Amino acid sequence: MSDNLVKKLTEYKDLSDAELKEIIETDLYDAELEEAADKVRRENYGDEVYIRGLIEFTNYCKNDCYYCGIRRSNRNSDRYRLSKEDILSCCENGYSLGYRTFVLQGGEDNYYTDDIICDIVSEIHSKYPDCAITLSIGEKSYESYKRYFEAGAMRYLLRHETADDEHYAKLHPEEMSIENRKRCLFDLKKIGYQVGAGMMIGSPYQTTENLISDLRFLQKLEPDMIGMGPYIIHKDTPFAEYKDGSLELSLRLLAIVRLMFPYALIPATTALGTISPNGRELGLKHGANVVMPNLSPVGTRKKYDLYDNKICTGEEAAECRGCLERRVTFTGYNIVTDIGNVRKYNNA
Ligand code: 5AD
Ligand code: FES
Repeated sequence: MSDNLVKKLTEYKDLSDAELKEIIETDLYDAELEEAADKVRRENYGDEVYIRGLIEFTNYCKNDCYYCGIRRSNRNSDRYRLSKEDILSCCENGYSLGYRTFVLQGGEDNYYTDDIICDIVSEIHSKYPDCAITLSIGEKSYESYKRYFEAGAMRYLLRHETADDEHYAKLHPEEMSIENRKRCLFDLKKIGYQVGAGMMIGSPYQTTENLISDLRFLQKLEPDMIGMGPYIIHKDTPFAEYKDGSLELSLRLLAIVRLMFPYALIPATTALGTISPNGRELGLKHGANVVMPNLSPVGTRKKYDLYDNKICTGEEAAECRGCLERRVTFTGYNIVTDIGNVRKYNNA
């Protein structure tokens, strides 16, 4: 067993499949990984943490992913949609709190036609020209993506979820395919978006080989943002009996991804904060440099229940900005009011 795998990963930003397997499957390198990941994040981004105001504007979804609480077959989901005015008031509130990125996320909801999305995006863009608009609304055609881009959206989040064909088929119904997911991601890049991909850690049936395929896929895509969080059960899904992903494996993958993609924007996710009370703080210490507090109206937050026990959904979370600021500062980093673009081209 080589004892300098972490050094090698740091230097070459890559390892062989066998080496990746070794580093993923043991806790022996964890301390070294954490230290190296933090060093690389500080070299690229200092102690800065970017905040993204997350607006979960619809929990209607035409898809039926087996792991997700807002899947169309979940009859217990209390569905809601935000109006354009609701969304704009989230942005107004967010702007005054220092957010310079708004992430519009929702299920795949055909109620919001391309015309409606473009109308919302262009209005936010004209009101807040110094802000980035990020969309996270699923799989669309090249033409739709292009229209949103022209309306003013500049980033797009679409996790690939798992890059392996067979694994993908175990997590999704037949009408969904990894080919289309990948097509979407490459289309988004071609159009000029800053693109975010990523996967759940510890999803049902996931193997180490699947995680290695995810890393290989990310190397091909070279995304600007990489979103990863533990899989967490939702009681009203077919996967209700499976185990949650682990904190340790999630943190290990965060550190590995930071070392492979030094330039990337990597969030310490809400899912990480859900499986452990200080999960997001630990995420920051393992290379994450973004947090995505909730800007949705407090009344709808509980309804966007992708998984059980999601944090930041109660009345006390009306203002995540202050809460996170304290947590981030306490962890030794610094939230900044900044559009927070990727620094790929300075450092790649
Ligand atoms: N556990 C953790 N993450 C989930 N997501 C969806 N369902 C779950 C779950 N049960 C993630 C997916 C999706 C993102 C918005 O939320 O990766 O891309
Ligand atoms: Fe939402 Fe702490 S970040 S309540």
